[in-house]
Amino acid sequence: MTANGIAGTTKASSEAATPVGSETLTVVDNRTGERYELPITNGTIHASDLRQIKTGSADFGIMSYDPAFMNTASCTSRITYIDGDAGILEYRGYPIEQLAEKSTFLEVAYLLINGELPSREQFETWRYQITHHTMVHENIKGFMSGFHHDAHPMGMLMSTVAALSTFYPDAHNIFSAESRMLQTNRLIAKMPTLAAYAYRHALGLPFVYPDNDLSYTGNFLNMLFKMSEMKYQPDPVIEKALDVLFILHADHEQNCSTNAVRAIGSSQPDPYSAIAGGIAALYGPLHGGANEAVLNMLRAIGSKNNIPAFIKRVKEGENLLMGFGHRVYKNYDPRARIVKASADAVFDVMGRNPLIDIALELERIALEDDYFTRRRLYPNVDFYSGIIYEAMRLPAEMFTVLFAIARTTGWMAQWLELVQDSEQKIARPRQVYLGPTRRDYVPITRRRGKADRPEPMAGRRVSRRGGGIGTQEAARVTP
Ligand code: ACO
Repeated sequence: MTANGIAGTTKASSEAATPVGSETLTVVDNRTGERYELPITNGTIHASDLRQIKTGSADFGIMSYDPAFMNTASCTSRITYIDGDAGILEYRGYPIEQLAEKSTFLEVAYLLINGELPSREQFETWRYQITHHTMVHENIKGFMSGFHHDAHPMGMLMSTVAALSTFYPDAHNIFSAESRMLQTNRLIAKMPTLAAYAYRHALGLPFVYPDNDLSYTGNFLNMLFKMSEMKYQPDPVIEKALDVLFILHADHEQNCSTNAVRAIGSSQPDPYSAIAGGIAALYGPLHGGANEAVLNMLRAIGSKNNIPAFIKRVKEGENLLMGFGHRVYKNYDPRARIVKASADAVFDVMGRNPLIDIALELERIALEDDYFTRRRLYPNVDFYSGIIYEAMRLPAEMFTVLFAIARTTGWMAQWLELVQDSEQKIARPRQVYLGPTRRDYVPITRRRGKADRPEPMAGRRVSRRGGGIGTQEAARVTP
């Protein structure tokens, strides 16, 4: 590959026929009649290869326009595989169903970070490392105590993880493998502690220190729920159910928050800063905040009788059916199936959450409705997870926090991959500029308000910066 990212492309002569079976894409530029042959690697063309397609030497060259990355791979990765049409999810090649049934969250975290399942000895070392980094500096407690009593725990988590970067200045040394591993251990270990502190702060309860005798999820339950007892014993059914939920949320390739972690990480700050950005992205209701939104929706529906009227409003575009639809899955989200199946075990211990009946009926009606089937909208992982979390007596504001604990392992695996990927550079997309063309500054005394504003540019033909001929919409490319 050349320095400008053009990977061995050729300008083909107009007559040359490319043999069928070649791993290339032939493009004909109808503006000039030129043909180009672009290499296909791993089912992709390199977007930089389009830049040679120009109308003249001063033309910037063709770019691809892809708001929201609908069809753009931003990296190569060896961590998580999703086949959205078939409803398949694998971590490092292992099907999510097998991991949920047979593994533990801590083992899955090792797998994501290191690429292979651990031997018994490797697992013991890993468990020891994670267990012995669960404590946070006492000043972090002070920091968290400063939040208002009704601060959203996601806001608290996001800010506190960002603050960790000031507690661990060695984390800036991202090109040291040893430092990277230390920060990875710290982050995975401390997330449950911070999350539990955020929860207890809202209730005005004292913070509970980690108990190293317990499992990762068992200790998290201890830090959430321990009251005056000498030793907290988590219910094994709840501990297992939470562990499975953590496994299901551990990674999901290039989703919104992972993309945020990678974009921030590409400018090479410490990982705490990058993960804080991931938490911010996860917070939104279209991503990790959806499970909280699902509960609000189910509560607003109130009873099964109101479902048809609600579905009607969704179809008329007034509401979204929260917990349905996914950018990648155009089939049942395999995680949703596992969450749904684990609900009964939790209800047996904690009592049935009546919202499950509304959810089940909502799913049944939606999946029989042409609106949803035509758009291939199925339940995603968030449709049932909130109902289970609520049955565990967790408030809705905590649901996305739980997601963040689990996803920290995926974020860190992706960050580690990014930092060691020689093809990655600072993430910096292009844009198609549709604003005003160059104009002279007008002193404030001579501005007449609206009249000074330029005509909208859409539809006008103007030159693009660089002298090429504009597209039908006026456009300038900002390098
Ligand atoms: N309810 C009703 N209609 C929907 C829904 C929904 N939940 N999701 C998508 N649609 C419709 C859209 O209106 C659109 O219809 P149109 O073709 O008539 O315009 C069509 O389905 C395609 O939807 P897009 O918005 O283009 O799909 P996109 O891939 O951009 O969005 C997303 C995916 C954000 C997940 C979307 O389905 C959504 O908003 N779902 C609800 C929020 C949610 O559950 N988010 C959690 C996702 S999983 C996670 O992050 C862990």
